[in-house]
Amino acid sequence: MRNKPMIVVAGLVLLLSVLVFAAGWMFGSHKRPEATQAATESVPVGARAIFIPGAGQIDAMRRGVPVDKEGHPPPMARVENADIRRVRNYPMQPPTIPHTIDGYQVDKNSNRCMLCHARANAATFQAPPVSVTHYMDRDGQFLATISPRRYFCSQCHVVQTDAPTLVANGFKDIDSILAASPPGGN
Ligand code: HEC
Ligand code: HEC
Repeated sequence: MRNKPMIVVAGLVLLLSVLVFAAGWMFGSHKRPEATQAATESVPVGARAIFIPGAGQIDAMRRGVPVDKEGHPPPMARVENADIRRVRNYPMQPPTIPHTIDGYQVDKNSNRCMLCHARANAATFQAPPVSVTHYMDRDGQFLATISPRRYFCSQCHVVQTDAPTLVANGFKDIDSILAASPPGGN
């Protein structure tokens, strides 16, 4: 029995670690209910306003909710699907998409958009065909199929949602500027 002291030491170490574990477990379990209680105490505040008129600032992150309060998440914006083509603000603007594009796959093997917007299919689906620029390569040469530069449609064309605007836009197109200026004036 040469190893007897070793066994005693091992037993003591084991006992000590069990004690430390028990102590940690007890203190840990004391803390946890307190934390959850604090979280449930803050009442969610309705947070719809993004622009706070009085404050003269945009508060996109907290939407006017005080820092010690929890805000309701704003409702998810809906994609407009009226199928009415929108006015362009200037001639070379990529028109916005007036329909939803959920699940329209555009990848290496297939382009769902071109099912309707290719010249050959446009009449069947009553969709406006993509313009000639979409068949041009970077040297201005016309290709038989959609140009790789115009393959990923949503790079330039986007849907619109009913989300409130964060920043007002004062853009005026050239037609409204011409209409506003007095005739024959300078
Ligand atoms: C099922 C057929 C169909 C598919 C698929 C489709 N579209 Fe359309 N798209 C139309 C039709 C029809 C219109 C004409 C307006 C309307 O009826 O919505 C249109 C209108 C548009 C317009 C407006 C053109 C203008 O002059 O204002 C754009 C831009 C557009 N689509 C882009 C896309 C993109 C990008 C995709 C793929 C993510 C796509 N479309 C997929 C049928 C389709
Ligand atoms: C690099 C940007 C870009 C990409 C990518 C692109 N477009 Fe366009 N698109 C434009 C611009 C700019 C216009 C308006 C001027 C023009 O016709 O070139 C336009 C016009 C259109 C129009 C209106 C054509 C007309 O004569 O009224 C349709 C429809 C359209 N694009 C669909 C698509 C589809 C579908 C794809 C994907 C296969 C696509 N676009 C990819 C920039 C782009």
